[in-house]
Amino acid sequence: MANKNIIAIDGPAGAGKGTLTKRLCDYYGFAGLDTGSLYRAITLCMIEKKHDMDNINLEFAINLTRELSDTHKILDYARNPQIRSQLTNKYVASVAKIPEIRAIMREYQISFGENPPALEDGRPAKGAIIEGRDIGTVICPNAPIKFFITASPETRASRRLKQYLDQGESASYQEVLASIIARDEADRTRATSPMKQADDAILIDTSLNNKEETFQFAKRIIDEKLKITLV
Ligand code: DC
Repeated sequence: MANKNIIAIDGPAGAGKGTLTKRLCDYYGFAGLDTGSLYRAITLCMIEKKHDMDNINLEFAINLTRELSDTHKILDYARNPQIRSQLTNKYVASVAKIPEIRAIMREYQISFGENPPALEDGRPAKGAIIEGRDIGTVICPNAPIKFFITASPETRASRRLKQYLDQGESASYQEVLASIIARDEADRTRATSPMKQADDAILIDTSLNNKEETFQFAKRIIDEKLKITLV
């Protein structure tokens, strides 16, 4: 039977979706899917194949996405730290806005939600958490729980800057802030599946809460709405 324990988490870059998803997956024994990493994986693969990213060839991009998705190689690319490089950052929004690529990724994400893969230790997953921009609105509109995680652009820029510096890349706070604001705008205003809070999503602002408070808040809601037996 298709899995019904699906949690949709949406919100802008750097708001803390990944941290919350990981914590909830570990706690409840759910499988997590970071859908941004899928668009990043496709972008990285195109860059590695020396595709001209300023003039994306639609047919090439669609065929590659289909192949990466059918073979699940997309998950290997998604594990490559280079998906977070500044070069991938520069081009990922142009890849993510292509409707045909989003359609292939939609099937992939729905299938992940309905049949989440086993956990790393081999246990079957008790549910799925899918995080992105359009999960509560387009991918899983019937998910029983939806969160929209946000934080001020300044808070998110400081977090991203730290990530870059930890990776050994140089960047300035002003540049990172400008790029976050530009990416928010691109995500919010694009024609296909723009980033949007679903009407029934619960808003969490992580500039106001620390990681533990955010986790505890989400946990209270999940415990109320889903019946999950922890072992
Ligand atoms: O969350 P992230 O920064 O890793 O996302 C990378 C890019 O992919 C970003 O431009 C937004 C886009 N994205 C999207 O369009 N839809 C999603 N479900 C997830 C990410």
